[in-house]
Amino acid sequence: MKSNGDQLIVLSWTGKYDDIDVKPGVLLYDNERSYGDQNTKNLLIHGDNLLVLKTLELEYAGKVKCIYIDPPYNSQIVFEHYSDKMEHTKWLRLMKARLEILRVLLSGDGVIFVQIDNRELHYLKVIMDEIFGRQNYRNSIIVNSSTKKPTVQHDTVERLNTGYDTILMYSKEEDLRIPNPFIEVDNQKNSGSWHSLWHSTNNPVYRFELFGITPKQGEWRWSERRTFKAIDNYVKLERYMDCYTFDYDNQDDFDFHYKQYLERNNLSVKDFEVVKLNMNSKPVYYIPPSNKVFLSENWMDLKVNGDLTDFETECNEFILFRILDWISSPGDLVLDAFLGSGTTAAVAQKMERRWIGIESGEQCYIHCISRIKAVIDGKQDGISKAVSWNGGGGYKFMELAPMKD
Ligand SMILES: C[S@@+](CC[C@H](N)C(=O)[O-])C[C@H]1O[C@@H](n2cnc3c(N)ncnc32)[C@H](O)[C@@H]1O
Repeated sequence: MKSNGDQLIVLSWTGKYDDIDVKPGVLLYDNERSYGDQNTKNLLIHGDNLLVLKTLELEYAGKVKCIYIDPPYNSQIVFEHYSDKMEHTKWLRLMKARLEILRVLLSGDGVIFVQIDNRELHYLKVIMDEIFGRQNYRNSIIVNSSTKKPTVQHDTVERLNTGYDTILMYSKEEDLRIPNPFIEVDNQKNSGSWHSLWHSTNNPVYRFELFGITPKQGEWRWSERRTFKAIDNYVKLERYMDCYTFDYDNQDDFDFHYKQYLERNNLSVKDFEVVKLNMNSKPVYYIPPSNKVFLSENWMDLKVNGDLTDFETECNEFILFRILDWISSPGDLVLDAFLGSGTTAAVAQKMERRWIGIESGEQCYIHCISRIKAVIDGKQDGISKAVSWNGGGGYKFMELAPMKD
């Protein structure tokens, strides 16, 4: 059994270490099926992803910024366009072999997202810990998979409906810092708010006296210098507000005057933090109103399924939009090795990322080609409006050459 220091826990199954002898194959350029600008680096590849990934390894090791895959969930359903019915250990082996190569393809600052439901989630997590390192596990993001079913009343059920899919997220390197993602919300009345300056982290670094209080446990959130500057700011603000009829209990009034003070003095929120003692004699700091909502792992505002094609497990373009917007920049390389109807490629194209999509089924010829051609022609659907997409670009179609005996 493979073991290296911190990898003392591994998932074991019959046949796990049976070597899969994968050798790079040959990718043949298909001019007929390619479309648009042929100077593009975008690749749509038809073939089994294990061999294709092994082939790509030669040129793309360490070059992919963002990998998103939505592999078969092993739901035991035979769909119209592919079978999702596999023996459990075969599914594990399939995933392990591909994830190992995907890790090699990721760049040092790269991130991988794997979407799955609860049937294989927990096994997948353990395999990914083993391949990517548990220290590189970042998040389990959940997206909404609930469907409106006819309400059938039963007294008993086998189990509860799940209602969500999970997207496991791993980095390649442990020290990678990622942007703090947020969404902008319109038409929502936001008010400023006050939060306790004390928090429970048992770190005595910031236990200075403040308004006559010295914490015996926990600490103040901010350094002494920052805190006293913010108290000073509050005093200045109070002096300014004293010139106006001002209701101290009305948060909207305070928000209004705070904003006006910043504008008049050409200050930003960062330049002008404020701290005060609240009515319960607790030091509190102020967070001004904002239309930014910082995201947690709860992405239940996004539905799993898209509705742009007749592909049964088409993913919602807005999930990919949120991921790529967060983790990648225009020009970065994005890869999906289980492309299905082409969602990742369509979104990457509209967001001006370079992309590689791999799909072994006929849907590569049918769904992916027609969908991506339409995107290049400027079709308005999915995320098009959100990114002001007008068309352009192209892709090269590659066919994995049949293996010779
Ligand atoms: C859940 S679907 C992906 C759906 C996709 N995210 C979309 O938005 O349409 C999984 C896809 O993986 C493909 N697939 C399964 N095994 C594969 C393999 N070994 N190589 C390449 N593609 C594979 C299936 O044919 C299927 O289209």
